[in-house]
Amino acid sequence: MSERPIVSQEEMQRQREYMRQVRGLSGRPGSYHIVSMGCQMNARDSESIAGMLEEMGMVREEVRERADLILYNTCCVRENAENKALGNVIWLKELKRDKPDLMICVGGCMTQEKGMAATMKARYPFIDVIYGTHNLYRLPEYIYRRLSGGEPVVEVFDMDGEVVEGLPERRASRHSAFVNIMYGCNNFCSYCIVPYVRGRERSRDPEEILAEAARLLDGGVQEITLLGQNVNSYRGGGAEFANLLRRLDAMGVPRIRFMTSHPKDLSDELIAAYGDLEHLMPALHLPVQAGNDEILQRMNRRYTRERYLDLVRRLRAVRPDIGLTSDIIVGFPGETRNQFEDTLSLVREVRFDAAYTFVYSPRKGTRAAELPDPVSAQEKSAWIQELIALQQSISLEALSAQVGRRETVLVEGASTRDSGSLGGRTPRGHMVNFPGGAELTGRFVEVEITSAGKNTLRGRRIEEE
Ligand code: 5AD
Ligand code: SF4
Repeated sequence: MSERPIVSQEEMQRQREYMRQVRGLSGRPGSYHIVSMGCQMNARDSESIAGMLEEMGMVREEVRERADLILYNTCCVRENAENKALGNVIWLKELKRDKPDLMICVGGCMTQEKGMAATMKARYPFIDVIYGTHNLYRLPEYIYRRLSGGEPVVEVFDMDGEVVEGLPERRASRHSAFVNIMYGCNNFCSYCIVPYVRGRERSRDPEEILAEAARLLDGGVQEITLLGQNVNSYRGGGAEFANLLRRLDAMGVPRIRFMTSHPKDLSDELIAAYGDLEHLMPALHLPVQAGNDEILQRMNRRYTRERYLDLVRRLRAVRPDIGLTSDIIVGFPGETRNQFEDTLSLVREVRFDAAYTFVYSPRKGTRAAELPDPVSAQEKSAWIQELIALQQSISLEALSAQVGRRETVLVEGASTRDSGSLGGRTPRGHMVNFPGGAELTGRFVEVEITSAGKNTLRGRRIEEE
């Protein structure tokens, strides 16, 4: 993987100047609301967008209908993500009828799809700014142009993209942070649209990453999750991913996590890191996608079932308590019942803590979208239900095995499920709810696990003697 040029300081300065100019415009939007769809990469992008909008003088508005500017950060990995985004955009048309000054911006992976921006421009002329994945840093310029009397802006770069450093940011959490380490993907799994909309792999410079981590630590962050479409092929400054982990560990970042990992690139060094890095949490999201070799080959995953199982054995040998999670696709074109059963048996064999399961969704422009797909939607839906039921019973057993244990939990905040309760994660990544006051948010507390639910644990705080 090569390193890509970074966007120049002059260009970033130009955008800072636009932010200043927007701030000074009379009648500019006073508040913003961002709807972030899709993965953590998008969530992290939304933090940069929020940072830029705040530099332009806008304040965050929790209620979408009340905001002066609404921005959709879209996803296109499956058709339903796209439909959701488009459904939302249509609804915005109504809102804009009642509120003509409302500014609407739409960007992210969906607008980067071939031909999508032009189609959207024609169909939804009420959108003020349409941008893609490679030019998010130019949002200040686009917003300025539109606000100072220009036409709606539709600009999507047809290129692989660069690395952007130095964008303002408004982080969603004060104690847990996402840090991008690389962008794009070179793998071209045959079902996946991501390489087309996020471009080729490019790594951030390790010094930039470490400097960001140092700033976050100074600000009180307790947990850093490194992000990339495939962090295992990180090659910043020529160094491999495990090396970056070692440096972060040595800095004393209390908890380190990362996602996502491609099994074909999971190195011996990374497995070893799970054995000896103090701050690397015993958790790994390792998407398997399917349990049958022929399907894996047609998916262009470039590993076999046996190789995946071998990785799992080796990871567990160095870190017996490691919690594994996965992504699984059901109903890839041409998948037979027997082949699907190999996925079931793999799930039984590995015993993931949790798995995100998806029915295959054809994406235009990908190779799999051209393959014959004889299995009906009903049948695929029955298969996925079977898989979900199996995984649920395994998840419940994995959670039940935690009962009685004492765990250090990083408190994320008030529980979304029951009031008066806090929610936090164990090192392995299990969510624990327990009674406690909001002042504990962002702190490490000792908890005894008292019971297991379907997806979460319950516990009680152990007061330090
Ligand atoms: N259909 C269904 N699931 C998909 N994923 C990616 N592309 C598709 C598709 N076309 C899933 C994969 C990936 C996760 C982020 O989304 O499991 O790991
Ligand atoms: Fe898509 Fe495969 Fe790249 Fe993941 S590794 S983003 S599934 S092409």
